[in-house]
Amino acid sequence: NLIGCGIMASVMQKLITPLASGPAEPPRNKVTIVGVGQVGMACAVSILLRELADELALVDVVEDRLKGEMLDLQHGSLFLKTPKIVADKDYSVTANSRIVVVTAGVRQQEGESRLNLVQRNVNIFKHIIPQIVKYSPNCTLIVVSNPVDVLTYVTWKLSGLPKHRVIGSGTNLDSARFRYIMAEKLGIHSSSFNGYILGEHGDSSVPVWSGANVAGVSLQKLNPDIGTDKDSENWKDAHKMVVDSAYEVIKLKGYTNWAIGLSVADLTETLVKNLNRVHPVSTMVKGMYGIGEEVYLSLPCVLNSSGVGSVINMTLNNEEIAQLKKSADTLWGIQKDLKDL
Ligand SMILES: *[C@@H]1O[C@H](CO)[C@@H](O)[C@H](O)[C@H]1NC(C)=O
Ligand SMILES: *[C@@H]1O[C@H](CO)[C@@H](O)[C@H](O)[C@H]1NC(C)=O
Ligand SMILES: *[C@@H]1O[C@H](CO)[C@@H](O)[C@H](O)[C@H]1NC(C)=O
Repeated sequence: NLIGCGIMASVMQKLITPLASGPAEPPRNKVTIVGVGQVGMACAVSILLRELADELALVDVVEDRLKGEMLDLQHGSLFLKTPKIVADKDYSVTANSRIVVVTAGVRQQEGESRLNLVQRNVNIFKHIIPQIVKYSPNCTLIVVSNPVDVLTYVTWKLSGLPKHRVIGSGTNLDSARFRYIMAEKLGIHSSSFNGYILGEHGDSSVPVWSGANVAGVSLQKLNPDIGTDKDSENWKDAHKMVVDSAYEVIKLKGYTNWAIGLSVADLTETLVKNLNRVHPVSTMVKGMYGIGEEVYLSLPCVLNSSGVGSVINMTLNNEEIAQLKKSADTLWGIQKDLKDL
């Protein structure tokens, strides 16, 4: 600063004696959020509050909203441990990201086919994904936009990244909802009910009743009919509540955002801290359970700083495997007709 070189030293020169020199180091745990809608911002705030990132970048096409969100978060800096919060519509702002969370995309319009919705999102992702990879070739991508399983496949195709680096949030939230609902019924905390919802995120998700347990005690051993229509206690209803819960929240408040934001922050923690924790997330399942096509579905994945380190080989019964295959067929039915991938 030339002003400081005059007769009087500046306040800063008087106050601070520099010791280190040389270029600044790139961030180690930079997280980018693409899309600053309700979901993107819930992810951003959850990641900030859990102190997972040393730099947070936001990207969107709506510039006023983007700048407003950035300033609002920066003004909270005193209460955060993320020293750099940046935003721009230009993807150069995302350079050197370790994790990129994709929440951008359009929503289904009334009467619109799923294929049409996906194709519109493909056209948007064709601009987003190559830009992300250009500036952060070593990042792990977490796709949150819906329909998440198809869009994770689309992202993988467009990115050219190895499959273990492209993850869909998948049934991570469905499973969290399931654990909450089941745990409430049993009067215990969600973390003490163990159970997975796998497969396709949404209506055709698969609850794995054979694995549901508390402290290792199998619920199916206590009630062999659990999860079936024969069950007089109707535990199956818990899965129906999971499926209905997104619709219910949307009906009441217009969108869902807090729970998905918290669940994405949980995935982010496992990735940046190399925890090797198991999460039900969407991964490329070709070759597993007799699935022959390149589709993304949720299975319990061991996540570490490489992305999906490995997949747990679940002991599913024949009906559960049939449901997974059916979802795979449905998804491939959409994917095979997508243009420009
Ligand atoms: C990506 O990772 C490779 C291999 O570890 C490394 O050589 C390269 O410098 C990294 N690229 C960037 C942009 O960080
Ligand atoms: C992640 O897990 C896989 C499978 O166990 C392993 O090959 C890989 O080295 C792990 N990555 C890191 C960074 O530990
Ligand atoms: C997964 O486990 C099942 C049964 O436990 C077994 O039949 C199958 O071969 C295993 N798959 C792999 C990929 O090891």
